[in-house]
Amino acid sequence: MAAHDGPLLSVRDLTKRYGQRIGCDDISFDVWPGEVLAIVGESGSGKTTLLNCISTRLPATSGTVTYQMRDGQPRNLFEMEEAERRHLLRTDWGFVHQNPADGLRMTVSAGANVGERLMAVGNRHYGQIRETATDWLSRVEIMAERIDDQPRAFSGGMRQRLQIARNLVTAPRLVFMDEPTGGLDVSVQARLLDLLRGLVADLGLAVIIVTHDLAVARLLSDRIMVMKDGHVIETGLTDRVLDDPQAPYTQLLVSSILQV
Ligand SMILES: Nc1ncnc2c1ncn2[C@@H]1O[C@H](COP(=O)(O)OP(=O)(O)O)[C@@H](O)[C@H]1O
Ligand SMILES: [Mg+2]
Repeated sequence: MAAHDGPLLSVRDLTKRYGQRIGCDDISFDVWPGEVLAIVGESGSGKTTLLNCISTRLPATSGTVTYQMRDGQPRNLFEMEEAERRHLLRTDWGFVHQNPADGLRMTVSAGANVGERLMAVGNRHYGQIRETATDWLSRVEIMAERIDDQPRAFSGGMRQRLQIARNLVTAPRLVFMDEPTGGLDVSVQARLLDLLRGLVADLGLAVIIVTHDLAVARLLSDRIMVMKDGHVIETGLTDRVLDDPQAPYTQLLVSSILQV
């Protein structure tokens, strides 16, 4: 029990430079089990860079990211073997991309897209895989009769729901999301957000979600980190940051939303 105390993820002094350009600069924060952290800020503020570095999809220039493995042991992700990191990404983590095509295999069936992740955690029984895949499709409101269809035949909203099912089927402990509702119509966005909120609560997921949309952060997150020009400007509980922003930049962000 004691071994599982402490943060799930600890980021320390993380910096990413693209040549002379700053992607993100000297970022430190923790994420606790079951916590939803929203990283907000305008376009170009470094949100995606930060998310890609902490999920080891992009090499950082300096800093460390420590992850508490399922056995309770904290591990420095940047010192991990490539194969072990890939295994984490396929099992204990999820990554939901803004564009579903980046997170799905578009020319294999919906069922196979979900089943593939189950096989990565050692599931070999075809009937069981298909049953679990069917169950997950229904959880994301995709009818069972679409299980053999390829995602390229799906609407944008359906593709995004399939990407979510594919990511959550392995019961990950941490899910990274980069603007998961960004490419969708407003009405479809609202439904997807509702679905996401339910799943995150039911599964007790820890989530790091990048969004430029404060309404998304309000609905999904416990805590907000505001970024500008690669720096963290303000961080705090979501309601506090949005209702009583302290930094002038956050005040500007919040008020520009309220004027819409
Ligand atoms: N591959 C890249 N090469 C060079 N500069 C990049 C690259 N990706 C991002 N940047 C720069 O890093 C900064 C942060 O970008 P990004 O992380 O994409 O911000 P956000 O996700 O908040 O829109 C921007 O100045 C951007 O131009
Ligand atoms: Mg981005």
